[in-house]
Amino acid sequence: MTPQQASLRAREIAALAPIIPVLVVEEAGVARPLAKALVAGGLPALEVTLRTPAALDVIREMATVEGGVVGAGTLLTPADVQAAKEAGARFGVSPGATDRLLDACEEADLPLLPGAATASEAMRLFERGYDMLKFFPAEAAGGAPALKAIGAPIPQVAFCPTGGISIKNANDYLSLPNVLCAGGSWVAPKDAVAAGDWARIEALAREAAALPR
Ligand code: 3PG
Repeated sequence: MTPQQASLRAREIAALAPIIPVLVVEEAGVARPLAKALVAGGLPALEVTLRTPAALDVIREMATVEGGVVGAGTLLTPADVQAAKEAGARFGVSPGATDRLLDACEEADLPLLPGAATASEAMRLFERGYDMLKFFPAEAAGGAPALKAIGAPIPQVAFCPTGGISIKNANDYLSLPNVLCAGGSWVAPKDAVAAGDWARIEALAREAAALPR
């Protein structure tokens, strides 16, 4: 898959909903009800971070939920790409980008949303052919004003900002012309997942899915 094809697919996934839930799931047993609640609330694209021992099993389980499009987040190495692909991830997300990681995703046909936080990082990825990036860590890297400023000289590149975003500040990002969607973990709070409070998670998803953009 070429970088252009990867970004095209990433743009299609971004178009599914204004928010991509960023999920850190400790236990594969909750994967299906969690994914079902988020999809039912209107958030079909799900990013499962490879930060827990259960993450690959979580991807396997969530990939069977109807209507969901499950991806793997926190891709750092070519081995992560291989594991994510084998588990059934349909897209990948990385906090930054290295040539080895980009090579691995292109070879594995895994559409990647690569991370960038500065104009130079965005330019390097754009030079390679990527025009849909993750802006990370969004709030710490200057928030919506920074992303707006990066968009002035590089309007061809679109972003999914992630990191410190919630229902309170999501609009600051979603109202920018270079933002197609945003990512955040707030729609799946740890306590609600632990309690199996799928109704609360579905309600949070519904609220996020209704954000204007
Ligand atoms: C991440 O990769 O951890 C995302 O940036 C999620 O950030 P959040 O927990 O601040 O939403």
